[in-house]
Amino acid sequence: MADTELSRNERRVLLVLSKKDKAPPEEVVRDGKFSELVEVMSAASWLKSKGLLDIHERIETSYTLDREGEAHARKGELPEFTLLKALKGDGKHEMGSLQGSGMDRDGMQIALGWMKRKGWVSIQKEGGKSFVSLTEAGKKQLRDGPETEELKVLKAVAGAKEGLPEEEAKRIGAHALGLLLTRKGILKVKERYLRTLSLTEDGKKVAASGISVGEEITQLTPEILQSGKWKEAEFRPYDVKTFAPALHGGKAHPLREAIAKIRDIFLHMGFTEIRMDYVESCFWNMDALFIPQDHPARDLQDTFYLKNPATAELPPKLTELVKAIHETGGTTGSEGWRYKWSEAEARRTVLRTHTTAATIKYLAEHPQPPLKVFSVGKVFRREAVDPTHLPEFYQIEGIVMEEGASFQMLVGLIKEFYQRMGFPEIRFRPSFFPYTEPSLEVEVKYRDRWMELGGAGIFRPEVTAPFGVKHPVLAWGLGLERLILRKYGIADIRQLYLGDLEWMRKTPLL
Ligand code: PHE
Repeated sequence: MADTELSRNERRVLLVLSKKDKAPPEEVVRDGKFSELVEVMSAASWLKSKGLLDIHERIETSYTLDREGEAHARKGELPEFTLLKALKGDGKHEMGSLQGSGMDRDGMQIALGWMKRKGWVSIQKEGGKSFVSLTEAGKKQLRDGPETEELKVLKAVAGAKEGLPEEEAKRIGAHALGLLLTRKGILKVKERYLRTLSLTEDGKKVAASGISVGEEITQLTPEILQSGKWKEAEFRPYDVKTFAPALHGGKAHPLREAIAKIRDIFLHMGFTEIRMDYVESCFWNMDALFIPQDHPARDLQDTFYLKNPATAELPPKLTELVKAIHETGGTTGSEGWRYKWSEAEARRTVLRTHTTAATIKYLAEHPQPPLKVFSVGKVFRREAVDPTHLPEFYQIEGIVMEEGASFQMLVGLIKEFYQRMGFPEIRFRPSFFPYTEPSLEVEVKYRDRWMELGGAGIFRPEVTAPFGVKHPVLAWGLGLERLILRKYGIADIRQLYLGDLEWMRKTPLL
């Protein structure tokens, strides 16, 4: 690698390191007259990515004194020794009499605990009282004085201004250090990264080939051009192949992105967006759509019914009309479902099971043509969560009402939509919905496979008559998540709702 492919800072770092085997970056800052550590570290990581330098990192643990530790070091003894002094003599001391040795109750308990642990005392119980007496080891300690191994470690820590490195503390007494660390308030543990920079074999070769660190221009400015300085200047070559860290800018979730695109498509096709509530009456979710009240989809197992609010107000006139349609077909010429329609059932509230609830409500309020509306919204069904089912998901829904609207137009519209979404091949199959005739199922081809994506059709007279709608209404309701699954080759629908950052970063926008 020629040295011109290195930045000025990279070359400065190489130059400093060519004179020594290895050095901590702080030293390189000093020797190379850098102004900041980040300059060196950033140059170092570039050199590393070019194979010229190694960065060794290790964590150094060191100790400083905590509050208690400081007090003990100052006093020159640990509390268990203070208590030991109070137990002078051969006799037994009643536990209660130990009070008054200058320690509080807790401190004394702790000191006594350590004395026991160190074998300095033994404790006997007699007549419901506890007595403490010195052991031989205790007596010896009393003669030897307070200077235990722990105290030595403590004093060494006290003497080390920047903290005592772990190795040194261990050299003085590894066991004692271990004991001190189990005690509260004695030592504070500090960890810091220690880095060492060293040249690789390649780095040494580049360094040996001679490095110049003259001024180098990395960015051309108007001043450089005007002053004519560019004639003599040394420019930093631009290498588009050099390594650069990946940057993850913010972006929308694929689901959001798809919804934005769908909006865009329908708006461009001259549609208006509508939005309605998630909570809807059975009347709008089902009855107005001529779904009979004993239809299995109304089952508790499929639909979320609400406790609060449990019922909704219905529009009185429409209620009468819808009731007549269900019972006898009203004036439509249909026979209806021929059963007793229940208003109470229609008043019950549900989380909408399809966006057709929104569509029909809007149609009831706007029975005059022309009408071109769409919605993208959540619907709720009582499904167990598995790789292909979610209890809430999105539907892409729309209607067109105008004079002479035809089946052909419906097919054309849906084709157009999928074409714009990037799915040019679709097909239709006959299907059934209580509210459309004819009814279609839409299938989309993706990677040689057909998948079912939703339904469509022309609203039946039983649906449109109560609202005074005089023209054909083309309607469709399509799945969103499945479309995205195919687009991104995702096997599990739950992936879309996991908040998996790694996946979102990797996923290209639609
Ligand atoms: N509502 C239907 C569903 O949820 C889809 C549909 C909408 C069918 C409009 C026909 C007309 O599957």
